[in-house]
Amino acid sequence: MTTPRSKADLIIRGLAEIATPLGSAPLAGADLGAEVLQGAAVAVLDGRIAAVAPEAEIDASWEATEVIEGRGGLLVPGFVDAHTHPVFFGARDEEFEMRIAGASYVEISKAGGGILSSMRGVRESSKEVLLALLLDRLDRFVEVGTTTVEAKTGYGLSPEHEMKCLEVLAAAAQEHPVEIVPTFLGAHDFPPEYRDKRADYVELLIEEMLPQVAESGLAEYCDIFTETHVFGIEDSRRVMRRGAELGLGIRMHVDQLTPVGGAELAAELGAASADHLECVTPEGIEALGRAGVIPVLCPLVPLFLRQEEEAPARRMIDAGLAPALATDFNPGSCNVQSMPEVLSWAALRYGMSAREALSAATLNAACSLGRGDRLGSIEVEKQADLVILDLPGHRHLTYELGRNPVRCVVKAGEVIYERTDEAIA
Ligand code: NIG
Ligand code: FE
Repeated sequence: MTTPRSKADLIIRGLAEIATPLGSAPLAGADLGAEVLQGAAVAVLDGRIAAVAPEAEIDASWEATEVIEGRGGLLVPGFVDAHTHPVFFGARDEEFEMRIAGASYVEISKAGGGILSSMRGVRESSKEVLLALLLDRLDRFVEVGTTTVEAKTGYGLSPEHEMKCLEVLAAAAQEHPVEIVPTFLGAHDFPPEYRDKRADYVELLIEEMLPQVAESGLAEYCDIFTETHVFGIEDSRRVMRRGAELGLGIRMHVDQLTPVGGAELAAELGAASADHLECVTPEGIEALGRAGVIPVLCPLVPLFLRQEEEAPARRMIDAGLAPALATDFNPGSCNVQSMPEVLSWAALRYGMSAREALSAATLNAACSLGRGDRLGSIEVEKQADLVILDLPGHRHLTYELGRNPVRCVVKAGEVIYERTDEAIA
């Protein structure tokens, strides 16, 4: 007598490997590496993972409306990009060429380019235009396997235009399957109207913008660019404390271009993440470790900025930290949306193994966004955010630089992207 098979909505089988971190807490130090299962398959029901088991067991126990054959590919959790700035109008290719010719990011910024050039684009654009651009960019994220993005404002730099960007993010979240985690980054730079009265912009952030943002419910986190030429330590402390007081989580751009003690401040404030860290000091690393702050590392940024310093990722891992990886997609310091690309660069520049990079780009990133219990791994009860890659094994995740291996993307149990065979050929 055969037992009846359980109903599933979707089965993914015929895979070379499933690679995934396990658990709902950030993976740190020596435990960072993801697990690799061979000969396993997955059953999905009601948007969640119902079973992960040897393929014969899945075949015997489950019947599904839809079966996807993995064709010897690799299954990983949907990538979680923990740091992006996707609400902008216009490119900054001329600045890229200026850096190629030798100008630095800060020089360009001080000459009125950089963030302020994107600010002009955002201020002049309607909500509709910004939304259309954002939706298009979200499609591009899906094509490279990203199913969740943290998305910052930061090119409005006024109450009106920052709120407009948060509204654009909320509208996109309604329309697009990619999950968006919105972050208010009004403290990205000083707008030109406050150029000679910077203290007044800090007051505006504290007295008007943060309360308005918190009241609107449109942001989960607040963020700040803590750096020598923008927000100093004391201003950063005040602005972030105010955000926390109003119920927002804290993420911070710290120690990117100069070692200003930003990591120590992120630790003091109990931030959810401390991002960049190219110039972090040993004391900063220790402080992050003690406070359990997740370092969000963006290996493509120094490459794009032609900056020599890189985040000491290996030292952080050896110190027991739980790093996440991100693109930092934005028009200035990283015009790249691809997490597969980030994984390769994390291997080449940071010395991270493919298993380590995968955990950092999925579960640890989800944990930094307060979503480790629901996202970031392929385990029973987690949301079925899954990516099938045309890769014969997990080591190819970092080994294949510059090719997009994504074949199929599933978000909450629904297939949201399938590459056509024409594209494969
Ligand atoms: O993360 N560091 C500050 N913000 C961005 C750059 C934004 C821009 O140049 O437009 C970053 O690198
Ligand atoms: Fe950034």
